[in-house]
Formats: sequence, structure tokens, C-alpha cells
Amino acid sequence: MGTGRGYGKTILFGEHFVVFGLPAIASALGSFTLAEVKVSEGKGYTVNDQRPATPGYKKTKYKESMQSIMNVIDHLNIDLNNNKLEITFSGDLIAASGVGASAAQCTSLVRALNSTFNLNLNNEKVNDAAYEGEKAYHGTPSGIDNTASTYGGLIWFVKNLSGGKNTMDLLQMPKKVPLIIANSGITASTTEVVADVRRLKEKNPEKFEKIFVKYKELAKSAKKAILEGDIVDIGKLMNQNHKLLQEINVSGEINDKLVNLALKNGAIGAKMTGTGRGGLVIALAENEIMQEKIANAIEKEGYVVWKTMIG
Ligand code: MEV
Repeated sequence: MGTGRGYGKTILFGEHFVVFGLPAIASALGSFTLAEVKVSEGKGYTVNDQRPATPGYKKTKYKESMQSIMNVIDHLNIDLNNNKLEITFSGDLIAASGVGASAAQCTSLVRALNSTFNLNLNNEKVNDAAYEGEKAYHGTPSGIDNTASTYGGLIWFVKNLSGGKNTMDLLQMPKKVPLIIANSGITASTTEVVADVRRLKEKNPEKFEKIFVKYKELAKSAKKAILEGDIVDIGKLMNQNHKLLQEINVSGEINDKLVNLALKNGAIGAKMTGTGRGGLVIALAENEIMQEKIANAIEKEGYVVWKTMIG
């Protein structure tokens, strides 16, 4: 028997842009998915998914989830003809669009298989295998989610579009800052939204080029603000990033509503995070008192909210 963890993540800057080789910044969350693998005589595998989840999430993502498990098993050359695997997923990460639930599931499974079959995988190999799993969910994933899930911490990530090694630098903030994560309750298809952005970009190359230039500058400033712990600047840049995400048509009405609600209640900055068109919104608070106030205001409107610290 073996177990493994995969952490959830939140993208602070650069979802979607990251798919096109632009830098993004993500933070792993303290919550994780736990995979447990038991081996018995026989063939094949069973899956028992006990993860807490947003209503509808598991049903919507069922096929992708099963394919991602198969991708991981194939990539690691696990012999299902002479082993029967009983795979159970649990943990405290709520499976929802935007929280890196798919990556956390893939990473946890890789780690559990690693320990069950003594595969001696280092983090790089764990990350590679989790990426194969992610392909079932994303089509063409940038790899940022599995990287955050595997390594943890706050990361600066750039996808290598030529297929070589991606860039990953760990960032350290001088002090941790409070973040609110609001769940719209809507599960979006990452594959579809990413494909939509690609189509839109092909139709409007000049518009996208301009947005990409703006975003590149924004990402550089965001890295600087994070390293300096300048939360006012981080907040401003989050707001600007949200506007650019609106311009590439990935922020849904619900995301804009939650962003505005957070800002109206004192957030320093707010934006959608992850796929968009539902999923999650993040908001930065000056201190824990403000974090509580913003979280309460959003909860009052009927949304599930999580409070965390990043940095
Ligand atoms: C999804 O969490 C993040 C996206 O940028 C897709 C990806 O990076 O693969 C939308």
C-alpha cells in the first residue's frame, strides 16, 4: 500500500497567458488531495473518489478524471495484468474549477504509485507523470498546475513552447498576505475555454499581440511587487490582470460580480483565477480583519469562501 499528496493551487497572475509561453505566478495551497493505492491479486483497477467537491464537479469531470488516471498508470508502466489496484482519493482540498483539483489528483496518484511500487521518482519525474495526467483534463496544459502541486510554495513559471524544460523559480515574499478564494460553484471546462482563447487569438492576432505585450510588463511588475512584499502594488496588478482576462473573454459575469463584491468590501485587488467562466475568484486583503470582512460579505451573498495566506 502507498499514499501520496498533491496540493491545490491558486494562480495569482497569468492564467491562459501561460499557455502561450508568457510567465505566470501561482501559489500552492495548504489543502491537498490524498491518494491511497492498495494492491491485490487480479487485474485492472477500481477508483473510490471521496474528495469533498463542489456539487456537480465530479460528474462533469468524471470521464476526464478516469482518463487522467489511465494516463498516469500508462506513463509509469504499471502492470495492470498482474496487479489489481484499489485507488482511493480523499483529502481536504475541495474539488472545484480553479483550485488545481485535477493537478492535485494527478500528483497525489503519482506519489502514491511511487511509494507503492518503489519507483524512486524524484520531484521532476513526479511532475512529468502528473503532467501526463493533466493532459486528460486540459488538452494542452501549460504545466503550471501540476508544477505548483508537486513543488508547493510560490512559483514563477514559464512554459517552454519548444518542448524543453519549463522555467520554475521559487519566489519568497517578505511576509505572508491574506487571500480570499470565492467559489462561484460553476464548473467550467478548461479544455473548452483554452481552445476558445486559441481560436480568438487566431482570429484577432493584432489585438492579442497588444494584450500580450501589456501582460508581459504586468507579469514583470508583479514579480517585483511580490519579492518586495508591496501588497498595494500586487492588488493593483491583480485588478489589471483581471481586465486583461476580460479582454480575452475568459471572465464570466459571475467572476466579474464576485470581483466587484470583493473590491466594494475593501479588497486591495481581485481577479478571477484559473480557467474562468465560473470557477473561482481571488481577493487580496490588507490584514486578517479585512480578510474576515470580505469573506463574510461574499458568504452573505450565498457563495462558499476559503481564507488562506500566501507567500
Ligand atoms: C488552469 O488552471 C490554468 C490555465 O492557464 C490552463 C493551463 O495553464 O494549462 C487556464
